[in-house]
Amino acid sequence: MQKTDKDFRLSEDEMRTYGYKVIDAIVNHFSTQEQKSPINLATRKEMDDLFLEQAPESATPSQEVLDFVLNNVLNKANILTHPKFYSFVPGPSNFISSMSDTLATGFNVFSGGWNASAAAAELEIVCLNWMLNWFKFPLKRGGGIFTSGGSMANLTALVTARTQKCGEDFSRAIIYMSDQTHSSNIKAIRTIGFRKDQIRIIPTDQEFKISINKLKNEIAKDRLKKLTPFCIIANAGTTNTGTIDNLSEIATICKTEDIWMHVDAAYGGATILSKQYAHLLKGIDKADSITVDPHKWFFQPYEMGCLIVRNAKWLRNTFTEKPEYLKDVEGNESEINFFDHGIQLTRRFRALKFYMSIKTYGLAHFREAITYNIDLAIALEDKLRKSDQWEIVAPASIGIINFRYNPIAKKLDEKTLDEANLKISKGVMAQQKAHMVTTTLMGQVVLRMCLINPRTTMTHLEETISSCEQIATELGY
Ligand SMILES: Cc1ncc(COP(=O)(O)O)c(C=O)c1O
Repeated sequence: MQKTDKDFRLSEDEMRTYGYKVIDAIVNHFSTQEQKSPINLATRKEMDDLFLEQAPESATPSQEVLDFVLNNVLNKANILTHPKFYSFVPGPSNFISSMSDTLATGFNVFSGGWNASAAAAELEIVCLNWMLNWFKFPLKRGGGIFTSGGSMANLTALVTARTQKCGEDFSRAIIYMSDQTHSSNIKAIRTIGFRKDQIRIIPTDQEFKISINKLKNEIAKDRLKKLTPFCIIANAGTTNTGTIDNLSEIATICKTEDIWMHVDAAYGGATILSKQYAHLLKGIDKADSITVDPHKWFFQPYEMGCLIVRNAKWLRNTFTEKPEYLKDVEGNESEINFFDHGIQLTRRFRALKFYMSIKTYGLAHFREAITYNIDLAIALEDKLRKSDQWEIVAPASIGIINFRYNPIAKKLDEKTLDEANLKISKGVMAQQKAHMVTTTLMGQVVLRMCLINPRTTMTHLEETISSCEQIATELGY
């Protein structure tokens, strides 16, 4: 049979020209993003008109496709790295990690088993050891895995908790979490086959922390019903308000009741690096498992989540399968096959970007950036408190703040306040200079900012607040 010339090869010159253009586009994006709008929306019709076609049978010149993508695709996405992207949990990212990810993809490193890439597995071990060390988890016994994000880390944790605590029969097992817990946890619990009646949503107190009293009541009642409390999901940084549950008290309950303690610290876990604020996570070291999302406040580009556990064997007990086609690469216990620590077999080399960015910038850089973000939210709280136009609804907590427009002189009723704040958010979004959506706290519509981007300054915030005030005045509030 004759060799085909259809083997996806390009000449070295063509690859270089193409690659340099890609790098130029990325560098250009990094240096001009602040001048762009963080909001780039389009309708399905507009997108269909631009892109919808059958898969083309014949080739198109590479530069032509690249130009089309640079001009039409990448500019039709919100910029979550923008200093005025305040909504949800943004992804500030960093240049070094973007390049590291490009390298990992370029070399197409398989980060599943030791024998496929010893260095990739070793770097994952090294980076996970850093995490274990920061969270004061046992270094020798502890372990973890990098995942695609927080949702997958929570899923991996809950499968592990279920296996360790319940074995095969989890029909009477009960799991507890607050009404502020991220929806990915419920998704995970449902994905792994729990019924809705096995989930207890515990109300939160005035500070949006899980009510310890109500949690204890529910556990006791479930024991009376001969049910098996098996896991509490605690929050270290809720998505709405940045609230940290009372981790030490939850740890005590878990110890006394023999319950698995999982902490969802997807965004808030980064606080551990701040010398000034790490103490806010007191008690997190007592958890059985912790979710942390490096693609949030560890400034990594998507996708990168992380799960750490007190004992790596728990992961292996849960996920190890020994199919005959992997027998030759089983290896030994110290040379970790990360396909035994989680759900994925084929995995991209996520540890590389974490490793290269921390080595390049230095950990002190990360510590300072995180502290800066926490201080920035506190400074904004202070400013808004001193204004007669604004009211703080949930104080600054590890970079998140909730507030609402409520001019003292006008004495607006609750319904009008809800309406006004919703319209202010819509007005800001319509101007396309900042991305700021509302959330609902205790039945009130509030404006929310998640300030985890170290490029966000007080000037950015003042500009946005001043736009809000102008919109409110124009609307007659
Ligand atoms: C507290 C918390 N947990 C879990 C998640 C889910 O993480 P991901 O979007 O990376 O899957 C988020 C996302 O914002 C979060 O804030």
